[in-house]
Amino acid sequence: MWRITVRKRNIYSITCALFSFKYRQIFQEFTMNFFLETLMLVFLGPYYYIEAFVKLFIPTRKKSVAGETVLITGAGSGIGRLIALQFASMGVTLVLWDINKEGNKETAKLVKEKGAKRVHTYICDCSEKDEVYRVSDQVKREVGDVSILINNAGIVTGKKFMDAPDNLIIKTVEVNTMAHFWTYKAFLPAMVANNHGHLVSIASSAGLIGVNGLADYCASKFAAVGFAESVALELLATGKSGVKTTIVCPFFINTGMFDGCDTKWPRVLPILDPNYVAKKIVNAILTEQVHLYLPRSLYFMMALKNLMPTKLGVLLGDYLGAFHFMDAFKGHKKKE
Ligand SMILES: NC(=O)c1ccc[n+]([C@@H]2O[C@H](COP(=O)([O-])OP(=O)(O)OC[C@H]3O[C@@H](n4cnc5c(N)ncnc54)[C@H](O)[C@@H]3O)[C@@H](O)[C@H]2O)c1
Repeated sequence: MWRITVRKRNIYSITCALFSFKYRQIFQEFTMNFFLETLMLVFLGPYYYIEAFVKLFIPTRKKSVAGETVLITGAGSGIGRLIALQFASMGVTLVLWDINKEGNKETAKLVKEKGAKRVHTYICDCSEKDEVYRVSDQVKREVGDVSILINNAGIVTGKKFMDAPDNLIIKTVEVNTMAHFWTYKAFLPAMVANNHGHLVSIASSAGLIGVNGLADYCASKFAAVGFAESVALELLATGKSGVKTTIVCPFFINTGMFDGCDTKWPRVLPILDPNYVAKKIVNAILTEQVHLYLPRSLYFMMALKNLMPTKLGVLLGDYLGAFHFMDAFKGHKKKE
């Protein structure tokens, strides 16, 4: 009887000891992790601020892209063509996609004149998933793996939301957003396998802030930004740091896409020169810049947007002309 009581008491005290040891361990691990992670945040936070500030004044080293295969969607005109021209003398293989055969052929001619040796053109409607997969397979067979993917093709309806026909709204999302899903699915696996590559999303300032008269376009660009940012985090989380990402958010560019649109304060928010934008985009790729907002005043406006009271944000938007940007929209002349 006495022996049984002692044994029970031993089992009880051993169990208690084990439990308290286990919980003490968990507690210690938790406090240790909490302490270390908080310490890291406290020290690295200011360090990253200082690093970003210093980088404003010191030019970042540009990587060489010689030997890379660069695919540009919507290469048949505007920014896509100008990006291709920027790459023409850099020793890359260019893969030009567009729905417009003539425009794409013209881009190929221009980049060859500028020194590009290996140029491949494909007609591809990026809004069609099966077509994207079919043409991607063709590219892989005929050219090889793509290492720099620039999702640039884009369209705009330019109508008030309730006036926009359903089919144009759907097309806008398919070209400006969904096409990015399909091209990533087609070309990202090889980049991940090699832990080498670069994903570039040409979004818009309309992907950061809503604009009167651009609801479907804004929605498609917000989605493109969210998608590109999330995949970038997925890559970081899986340790694929060799696959770089760049998200580009420009204000209006003088390519014809937003013809007729005006800016109230051109000094703060100028209509951008297409050549300047293309140069900045290629520079961002070469320096592995993660976010590129154009003009620079956008960085400040984005910071303000999240800090100020909503009513003040609306007032500031009105002050900057955001209610009337689209009033005189014409778009590409041949559009309709
Ligand atoms: N122009 C601007 O003011 C402005 C501002 C911010 C962002 N952007 C974005 O920059 C990108 C380039 O714009 P841009 O001004 O050069 O326009 P753009 O109209 O001059 O060029 C777009 C190109 O995409 C091609 N395209 C359209 N639909 C396609 C499809 N389904 N499949 C394949 N190709 C297709 C067109 O044929 C055209 O060659 C777009 O994503 C646009 O949304 C433009």
